[in-house]
Amino acid sequence: MKRIEVLQAGGPEQMVLAEAPEPALRPGEVLVRVAAAGVNRPDVQQRRGLYPPPPEASPILGLDVAGVVARTADDVTWPPPGTPVCALVNGGGYAESCAVPAVQCMPIPNGFGFVEAASLPEVFFTAWNNVIMLGRLAEGESLLVQGGTSGVGLAAIQIATQLRGSTVYATAGSAEKCRVCLDYGAAAAIDYRTEDFCARLRELTQGRGVDVVLDGQAGPYTDKELGLLAPDGRVVLIASHLGAMAEVNVRDIVRRRLTLTGSTLRPRPPAYKGRIARALVEEVWPLLADGRIRTRIHATVPLAEVAAAHGMLEAGEQIGKVVLIVDPALVTAGPG
Ligand SMILES: NC(=O)c1ccc[n+]([C@@H]2O[C@H](COP(=O)([O-])OP(=O)(O)OC[C@H]3O[C@@H](n4cnc5c(N)ncnc54)[C@H](OP(=O)(O)O)[C@@H]3O)[C@@H](O)[C@H]2O)c1
Repeated sequence: MKRIEVLQAGGPEQMVLAEAPEPALRPGEVLVRVAAAGVNRPDVQQRRGLYPPPPEASPILGLDVAGVVARTADDVTWPPPGTPVCALVNGGGYAESCAVPAVQCMPIPNGFGFVEAASLPEVFFTAWNNVIMLGRLAEGESLLVQGGTSGVGLAAIQIATQLRGSTVYATAGSAEKCRVCLDYGAAAAIDYRTEDFCARLRELTQGRGVDVVLDGQAGPYTDKELGLLAPDGRVVLIASHLGAMAEVNVRDIVRRRLTLTGSTLRPRPPAYKGRIARALVEEVWPLLADGRIRTRIHATVPLAEVAAAHGMLEAGEQIGKVVLIVDPALVTAGPG
């Protein structure tokens, strides 16, 4: 089978199309014939050598796929061979075949093609894990999403508005991106390049602040975000692109019972990811099928042109998801 290999940590030119044997199946796994694969920010970080895969995971890039189950380990009861699925994978998505724990597979939402389905797992798992599970966003609470037009950002805005009735505020880096945040349900969007997001949020919330913040920037943002929280509020970090170190007002954490937490999804065991998969299929998949929650595809790129796909993320031009077409014939045939 064909797959993308990274020659050495570095720029997009380090990714090459190579021939390799199909991955072996471990107990509990299925082999997916990949139609399309999502491109995510952690792939870019891994390619640069900044986000090494956990020891048990495939070193091949790619965290989510959609395709058809080709075969299964003996102990797998669902999904059987021939089932169209989308899946959160532990690496190995940039390839014609990918081994994945069966519990991380999900049916394709009604009416979705393989490209749309491949855009879902990584961003919806991440949004669910951090907004609902760690952030404990409750009915009617408010949420600030930093980087609202990222794949994770658009998923978080919609989960919060559609499932928790939340008022969601989002930041984004241009007027066009702010318009997209509003279109996906944000009550207000702030261009962080031209406005002070803290001052604007204080104004928007009449000084109360927000209940939960979802942030991938950290560094100098962290103390500002803690200061923006209402009493008992939570800041959830999903990355630290602006810096690993932050000086924070701990007295304020004590006085107002604030929580600063964070997570990465990839090292979590299949059983944990399986719980998220079941919650998504139950609560989010029906809303994707009836259009109340939408995915947004920024671009599709053939597998062999993966460098162009990473270039889009590095230029920060994408709004929503970039998806690799791995098997054009399967994409055209659709999940049926
Ligand atoms: N912890 C986990 O399990 C996990 C899993 C997947 C992804 N992530 C993280 O989640 C985030 C989104 O991932 P993705 O794949 O959906 O990425 P993406 O589409 O590449 O988005 C990155 C986002 O960061 C925003 N951004 C950049 N500088 C910013 C700033 N100074 N203030 C506010 N926003 C800023 C960008 O906004 P503009 O373009 O508007 O500037 C862009 O929307 C990334 O930080 C990624 O590392 C974490």
